[in-house]
Amino acid sequence: MAFFSSATKNIPVVNEIPQHIAVIMDGNGRWARNRFLPRVAGHKRGVETVRDLVKHCVALKVEFLTLFAFSSENWRRPAEEVSFLMGLFMHALKREVVKLHKNNIKLVMIGDRSRFDAELVTQIEESEQLTANNTGLVLTIAANYGGRWDVLQAVNKMQLATPDLVGLYQEEHLTPYLSMHYAPEPDLFIRTGGESRISNFLLWQLAYTELYFTDTLWPDFNQEALDLAIQSYQKRERRFGRTSEQLIDKDSSTAQ
Ligand code: IPE
Ligand code: IPE
Ligand code: MG
Repeated sequence: MAFFSSATKNIPVVNEIPQHIAVIMDGNGRWARNRFLPRVAGHKRGVETVRDLVKHCVALKVEFLTLFAFSSENWRRPAEEVSFLMGLFMHALKREVVKLHKNNIKLVMIGDRSRFDAELVTQIEESEQLTANNTGLVLTIAANYGGRWDVLQAVNKMQLATPDLVGLYQEEHLTPYLSMHYAPEPDLFIRTGGESRISNFLLWQLAYTELYFTDTLWPDFNQEALDLAIQSYQKRERRFGRTSEQLIDKDSSTAQ
């Protein structure tokens, strides 16, 4: 079932606590290098950060947390690092899924699974099935995900489903086929690790998202750091194309 929510078509409801936070978890390698450890030690430590922040998001009543774990371009890394990361996904899924389930968290993985080992695909499917009916936080992990891949796979599916509409497509025809059709667009995007780029993450969905970049490396990004990001978000004026004056005037602020 599609959850259609487009910041370019309708003005979204803005809450104090972002309903959907999307994160590029960057800086694991540098965290490890700063400690004279192998890069993979940073990835291992990064999983602890995920656990800590999931807990915090549940406490804050964030409804959707989306984490970029492996980009479609990360296959370009040395083979040993890629294979360590795949092993880490497998291990973390196996170890964490029961705990996630007990906490009523729904786990969803987005991205192209065709390059993953059959064993990992099965583990992903089982984890999703176990938590499918949970009603708490929706935790989405983007693995072998790319924003361009997502838009293209959606276009292809849309065209196959509705060939008679070619040349007439609107946003609402495409969005049901995007990987994150079940979620509202992110309110807050966070990138740790000091880079100011999107790196082919949720290109379509970030159209009106508030962007927050921090130098903090992912393994150091703790609950207080998330609070700071949310405080920064709370100070933003989300105009969605309107003027500040319109926001002050209550009537026009609800105009579409
Ligand atoms: C992010 O940390 C994790 C993944 C991309 C899998 P990096 O591994 O990119 O860490 P840096 O950027 O090299 O420090
Ligand atoms: C982005 O991190 C992807 C993930 C965090 C999974 P990278 O560290 O791979 O990004 P670039 O290549 O430096 O932009
Ligand atoms: Mg990086």
